Amino acid sequence: MVKMEKQQAFICSDSLKMKPNRMKKIILKTGETLQISIGTKADAAAVIEHLKTVGDETEFLSFSGADFAVSAEEEAAIIEAHRVADNRLFLLAWIKDELVGVLNIDASAKPKMKHLGEIGLSVLKAHWKKGIGYQMIQTALDWAKQTGVLKKVNLEVQENNYGAIRLYEQLGFTLEGARKRGVLTDGVYYNLNLMGICIN
Ligand SMILES: CC(C)(COP(=O)(O)OP(=O)(O)OC[C@H]1O[C@@H](n2cnc3c(N)ncnc32)[C@H](O)[C@@H]1OP(=O)(O)O)[C@@H](O)C(=O)NCCC(=O)NCCS
Repeated sequence: MVKMEKQQAFICSDSLKMKPNRMKKIILKTGETLQISIGTKADAAAVIEHLKTVGDETEFLSFSGADFAVSAEEEAAIIEAHRVADNRLFLLAWIKDELVGVLNIDASAKPKMKHLGEIGLSVLKAHWKKGIGYQMIQTALDWAKQTGVLKKVNLEVQENNYGAIRLYEQLGFTLEGARKRGVLTDGVYYNLNLMGICIN
């Protein structure tokens, strides 16, 4: 099980334009309490364990557990770079002390590109279909709207990842095109659907 390095103080924040130790609390349809926090360097080991696990649980990510060769120091630097940027976000979702979801918005610092965010999302398989992905993206979009910097959020999703596509459509993302032969899985090429949502 992935453990929180340190129990963080809970401060409810609707806006979630928050400092690292602030958390948003949501009651899921299962009755479980989901806590969403901004990642900090201290979360690096938990994030690596999560990504290695989900990498082996699904064919819909671009890496397997074995492919994910990022050190704790490198992951900590990635998380910190997201934390300090005005257009990047690293969100973690916790049930009790288990890290069940990771979402990041990556973005460029270049003036011509900094209005564009790119979402990556994973939820542990044991917790799929509880509404965690929905809550994480909704929280990320709320945060993005308040940055005043991000104006568009994009993502790429494998064309046969029907559950994820449905989730994104529910949240207002629309199909903008497709990257042909975007991914090769077990000898089969799949297109990557390009989806996006304008904000503000
Ligand atoms: C895709 C993923 C993030 C969805 O997370 P989740 O927490 O299970 O999604 P939610 O429970 O919030 O789903 C919300 C809605 O999305 C749709 N949805 C999600 N998963 C679905 C599935 N497997 N089949 C059909 N619809 C699905 C449904 O409309 C659902 O609403 P409903 O429960 O009222 O029917 C998760 O399955 C995952 O991590 N998959 C592996 C990694 C991955 O594919 N990441 C996305 C890469 S682009």
